[in-house]
Amino acid sequence: MASLPELSYNGRLESSRSSPQHRGGLQSSMDYGYASVKPVQLGICGLGTVGSGVVRVLQRNRAELSARAGRDLVIRQIGARRDRPDCDTTGIAVTRDVFEVVRNPEVEVVLELIGGTTTARELVLEAIAQGKHVVTANKALIAEHGNELFAAARERGVMVQFEAGVAGGIPIIKAIREGLAANRIEWLAGIINGTGNFILTEMRAGRSFGEVLSHAQALGYAEADPTFDVEGIDAAHKLVILAALAFGMPLQFDKVYTEGISRLSLLDVEYAEELGYRIKHLGIARRTERGVELRVHPTLVPESLLLANVNGVMNAVLVQGDAVGPTLYYGAGAGAEPTASAVLADVVDVARQQGTDPASRVPFLAFHDQALETLPVLPIDEVESAWYLRMSALDQPGVLSRVASILSEAGISIEALIQKAPLPEQDHVPLILLTNPCLGASMDKAVARIEALDSIDGAVVRLRTEPLAG
Ligand SMILES: NC(=O)c1ccc[n+]([C@@H]2O[C@H](COP(=O)([O-])OP(=O)(O)OC[C@H]3O[C@@H](n4cnc5c(N)ncnc54)[C@H](OP(=O)(O)O)[C@@H]3O)[C@@H](O)[C@H]2O)c1
Repeated sequence: MASLPELSYNGRLESSRSSPQHRGGLQSSMDYGYASVKPVQLGICGLGTVGSGVVRVLQRNRAELSARAGRDLVIRQIGARRDRPDCDTTGIAVTRDVFEVVRNPEVEVVLELIGGTTTARELVLEAIAQGKHVVTANKALIAEHGNELFAAARERGVMVQFEAGVAGGIPIIKAIREGLAANRIEWLAGIINGTGNFILTEMRAGRSFGEVLSHAQALGYAEADPTFDVEGIDAAHKLVILAALAFGMPLQFDKVYTEGISRLSLLDVEYAEELGYRIKHLGIARRTERGVELRVHPTLVPESLLLANVNGVMNAVLVQGDAVGPTLYYGAGAGAEPTASAVLADVVDVARQQGTDPASRVPFLAFHDQALETLPVLPIDEVESAWYLRMSALDQPGVLSRVASILSEAGISIEALIQKAPLPEQDHVPLILLTNPCLGASMDKAVARIEALDSIDGAVVRLRTEPLAG
């Protein structure tokens, strides 16, 4: 097998067979000949899960990274409130004040890995004001303050990179921003929160939401306060970033419709399976003639789709482009090293583009800022979906036909139906319906009428279903 060429000291390509350094395994960046090129000086803020992963991967793959960047990558300073036993910072200056890193004149690229939106925003704005490039893994920061940060960065001519902010290690931002640049992106749908996907996967084995959540917390997959993950806020942060990149619009986090999985019943997981579906907590962005849909909610997905079979903490994003058709991106959406993989890819990008004319760089949100358009986002009741409905119906003749005629009067037709036998000594039976697509507002009215029937007990459970076909 032919050996790969590599850069020689003077920058020429030559066979690695002739390189004595290569035999010893990993080469240092000095061996690659970057001694004469000024290294890129990095300042890392935050030494938690991601920060420590970044340090480890950078130390392990430094030669590889430098060969890709064309310059050596050096950690000039770390800002961390405490040391970490799993992270060797020998020889690196460590400060307890993250702002000291930003103000360090030697630091050229600031890696914001502290999380949150208050100190992180101040930190990033200060880094930009100091003329430093920024790499962040912080989706909340980008989703909520990205427009402001990008404007400041444009003004100052610096880069703000955020690949790790969406789907961890999956290079989905690069794929949409660059790889799919020829396409008019029609829609995308993603499993973009690993905690939620782990819970839904485990519920298929017959365990309740609460039971699985406790297990996820014990395994470290869910936070002590799981609200951000299970109520869809984290997914909404990521979705708004993906939608901006896909459709060329500014970030509009406050417009995302968000519905969590915490009220999901095991019964619905089981009935969905009987009907040939899996329930996934999807983030969906779709361009329609009336506006853009931005929504995160539990969704019935046909079990034959690859997306329906993405299990556990894994993430996946399905993107439909007009030229390429559907493309699917799958991988680890979180974790120290998968996230570090994305952070360091951004660092390599910054190193490659440092010194280039800011106007010729890849735009923050894929489209040049003059071309960004504030597209209207549809309120959820104006979004069209097919529905799964479950209700508890009195076990007597005529109930089903009353429900069917209410739906029909609202212009909604029934696609499939399951009626269960009553349990011993119970006079109500579960009635499960799948409908054709209709507006959320039509379904609201129909459900209100169904719930008012004497023969229907309690609230109607309803979930959206998506065919996710081109
Ligand atoms: N974990 C993942 O898998 C993952 C995946 C994708 C993206 N992200 C994003 O990456 C970022 C970091 O997440 P993480 O999981 O690494 O969080 P983490 O483990 O909680 O780490 C954050 C670190 O930042 C430190 N920190 C916070 N405020 C600070 C301050 N003012 N000064 C100094 N240090 C400060 C914390 O220090 P203390 O320990 O003293 O509090 C902690 O060590 C977040 O934006 C997150 O959304 C994480």
